[in-house]
Amino acid sequence: MHSIVILNPKGGCGKSTLSVNLAGYFAQSGKKTALADCDPQQSSSDWLALRPEDLPAIGRAEFSGGKIKVPGGTEVLVIDTPAAVHGQRLAGFVKLGHSLVIPMLPSPIDIRAAEHFIAELYSLKHLINRRVRLASVANRVREDTLAAASLEVYLEKIKLPTGQKLPYITVLRASQNYIRAAEKGMSIFEFAPAKTTYDREQWHPLLRWLGG
Ligand SMILES: Nc1ncnc2c1ncn2[C@@H]1O[C@H](COP(=O)(O)OP(=O)(O)O)[C@@H](O)[C@H]1O
Ligand SMILES: [Mg+2]
Repeated sequence: MHSIVILNPKGGCGKSTLSVNLAGYFAQSGKKTALADCDPQQSSSDWLALRPEDLPAIGRAEFSGGKIKVPGGTEVLVIDTPAAVHGQRLAGFVKLGHSLVIPMLPSPIDIRAAEHFIAELYSLKHLINRRVRLASVANRVREDTLAAASLEVYLEKIKLPTGQKLPYITVLRASQNYIRAAEKGMSIFEFAPAKTTYDREQWHPLLRWLGG
């Protein structure tokens, strides 16, 4: 089973959006997929409850006491996490995953915060020992703004504590498609094919990185 954890202590950066779209992608590509919602706000669970029955099913993995109970036969597990996770709780979530995906908003302040967060991740020594893979995704990027234009410059500057560059995998634009699909319990891989072509293309580098 491949376990993918979506992490960033910043609220509103797109953890739940990435989680449900990844789960939807893997489910519609034929993998037995489960979603674990570890956030008391339950955004991913609410999405799952809305999911139409005629779409490929996504299992519900129960999170309690820091552990996840995964439905039998699950091939891909997507783990959505709460905001403001640090220290021991953060270490607990890191231990659950093979791949960590960090959504980031494209403002200098948010990228700076993400840099501190990534430094904290690397300070968890067992993370490096277990060779967990780490990648970030710029999310809700308005392509017409200065923030988008300077985004690459900021991302290029981010150095991991190991001196390596942060593997920033892709840029996802701000699009109503995410909101409209989510309202129906769908991912953009299942929603309005003609309208979501561009958005789906933006996911390809991340899906390749995840081996999907
Ligand atoms: N790429 C995007 N385009 C448009 N809206 C987005 C995008 N990503 C997230 N959102 C919206 O931003 C809000 C916060 O996203 P969410 O995934 O709930 O963040 P988090 O789980 O990190 O708190 C939600 O209303 C969501 O629909
Ligand atoms: Mg959330």
